[in-house]
Amino acid sequence: MLFLRLVSLVLLSGSGVVLAEPRISPSVIHEKRTYTPAGWSRARRHEASAILPLRIGLVQSNMDKLEELLLDVSWPESPNYGKHWSVGKVVETFSPSRETVDTVRGWLGDSGIEPSRIKLSGAKTWIEINVTVEEAERLLGTEYHVYSHSSGKEHVACDSYELPEHVSKHVDIVLPSIHFDAVVKRDGGSSHTLSNIGQPGVGLVPKTTGTISSILTELETCDEQITLACLRALYEVVYVPVATSKNSFGIVEYTPQAYLQTDLDMFFGNFTPNLVGTAPTMASIDGGYAQTEYTGFDYNGESDLDLQYGMSLVDPLPVTLYQTGDMVEGASFNNFLDAIDGSFCAFEGGDDPYYDATYPDPYGGGYEGAPSGPENCGTATPAYVISTSYSYNEADLSPAYAARQCAEYAKLGLMGTTVLYSSGDDGVAGNDDLCLNSDGSQTANGTMFNPGFPGTCPYITSVGATQVNPGASVAEPESACMQVIYSGGGFSNYFAMPSYQASAVEYYLTTYPPPYSTSQYNATGSRAFPDVSANGANYVVAIDGDFYLVYGTSASSPVTGSILTLVNDARLAAGKSPIGFINPTIYSSAFYGAFNDITTGSNPGCGTIGFNATAGWDPATGLGTPNFPQLLARWLALP
Ligand SMILES: *[C@@H]1O[C@H](CO)[C@@H](O)[C@H](O)[C@H]1NC(C)=O
Ligand SMILES: *[C@@H]1O[C@H](CO)[C@@H](O)[C@H](O)[C@H]1NC(C)=O
Ligand SMILES: *[C@@H]1O[C@H](CO)[C@@H](O)[C@H](O)[C@H]1NC(C)=O
Ligand SMILES: *[C@@H]1O[C@H](CO)[C@@H](O)[C@H](O)[C@H]1NC(C)=O
Repeated sequence: MLFLRLVSLVLLSGSGVVLAEPRISPSVIHEKRTYTPAGWSRARRHEASAILPLRIGLVQSNMDKLEELLLDVSWPESPNYGKHWSVGKVVETFSPSRETVDTVRGWLGDSGIEPSRIKLSGAKTWIEINVTVEEAERLLGTEYHVYSHSSGKEHVACDSYELPEHVSKHVDIVLPSIHFDAVVKRDGGSSHTLSNIGQPGVGLVPKTTGTISSILTELETCDEQITLACLRALYEVVYVPVATSKNSFGIVEYTPQAYLQTDLDMFFGNFTPNLVGTAPTMASIDGGYAQTEYTGFDYNGESDLDLQYGMSLVDPLPVTLYQTGDMVEGASFNNFLDAIDGSFCAFEGGDDPYYDATYPDPYGGGYEGAPSGPENCGTATPAYVISTSYSYNEADLSPAYAARQCAEYAKLGLMGTTVLYSSGDDGVAGNDDLCLNSDGSQTANGTMFNPGFPGTCPYITSVGATQVNPGASVAEPESACMQVIYSGGGFSNYFAMPSYQASAVEYYLTTYPPPYSTSQYNATGSRAFPDVSANGANYVVAIDGDFYLVYGTSASSPVTGSILTLVNDARLAAGKSPIGFINPTIYSSAFYGAFNDITTGSNPGCGTIGFNATAGWDPATGLGTPNFPQLLARWLALP
């Protein structure tokens, strides 16, 4: 350390300039929490001598240019449209700067932490040190408490923490700190009573009205039952993939959610006979496997739905299943991101254990790690289109945590992947129908709209839900889904509006000003979602040996993903790049009319009717549902 400092002094004096960062600066509050999440209470001050594994997430380079760089390869009029990046270029561009690493190390050193205790992660994005609680409290100007949950679980956290001003600008987040296991799983009575920390998908399993005794096969009955034939008719999907050796489509599932081959075969037997006996291509992440110990709608509904429709619609292209997490630990979005993007790996040994499952499983009985390392890191290849039907409420996460993850989706976009997320099933309310209070807490009686994440991340494509209206045919326009579920949508409280949607959203807000106050929703230049939509009502799905009727944006996302995968097939067959991050393209004038505009229905929640579907983009159904022939023609016209 001393040696390094001497070297830099020599260099500085050699060049005749002294530009050293101030080594002492006033402390500023870095992150703050305004409430204790429901179910938790402060039990006691943490013992001063206890050891905390402190992790400091460093600010990455060029983050201010992220949107511009992503637009450069995704904007249809850009000369670099479709010229996607290699992983190496992504890592090189975004690794934290030398100055960032040195500033944080210098501060720790000056604070009495011996250099030998400080570890830097492989991708240089995290610094890790084991400190006593006393040391952490001194470094961060805070007090650590142990909180206890009604379930008996304990958690260490503080209310806020400080960093010196000159250090603060080099740090995204420090863990453990204000972050909580905010999400407690609602569970079907198994032994898994608590959610794995940060496990996505809580409250967002598809819904069902139960089993059906007979399948209706006529297009006239698509208002009662949605089948493959209905979807192909609605979106005019007539296409057989040809570029199957070049193309890829991935569906993400989080264990214990899993498919049953017998269910796939039951569905294929009725609708896609040549797929009987076909399994998805398993890409196991962190011990993920298609578990069969727990069955039932809650365990098999999502995976059976996603795979039965996804595999059928892109047949004969094989579908990759990213089965993430084992039975004991589960997993978070970051575990998935780690596996497909080596640059995201936090540090040797795991991520943030306060949100992310840690491998090897510290509690025993779980996945023991890949031979190459303790956790899957950069081991799975990202498919060109990846659909995920799980989500958080934005308010479950801190703004800095959400921003760090959102940036990873932008990196996938730079590499040519289309990332789709279902927008949520509770309209303008969040998962479990919770709404926000002004202190940031979430309760059923909250009055502020509660947007979902990653739907509000500007670098993913959010998919809402529509329905064939009761009594209507597939030839008539759909509405926003208003049976059993409501399409998630609204405005972010964390992310600013990206340039690609500004004129569409401003048109909506000025033409159809919503009759809500600014204390109900945040429309002041916020990222608005969803981007697009697709049918989400009355799906016929084989689950545990019966056909069920299933509802949810959970269905809309894989169906949209399948249709975009067919577009990729045509582009790849023509020697072009995959479509990558689609938002700048689909909001552009070149795509005007390429979606079926949805103009009826709304997305109720939080004691309101929510937002109306209107002519043009709206925060219930986005730009509308896919018009496959239009999308195909327009994407084939792009370079
Ligand atoms: C912190 O302590 C744990 C447990 O003793 C150890 O495995 C880990 O390597 C330590 N980390 C650092 C950065 O020293
Ligand atoms: C709202 O619900 C919470 C519990 O979720 C309760 O403590 C609070 O009193 C309720 N507020 C009102 C105004 O009803
Ligand atoms: C509204 O959203 C913006 C991001 O667009 C954010 O900076 C601001 O804090 C939000 N306001 C509230 C009250 O959440
Ligand atoms: C939705 O449309 C109805 C009928 O035009 C109107 O009365 C209502 O104010 C609109 N609501 C919103 C949220 O825009």
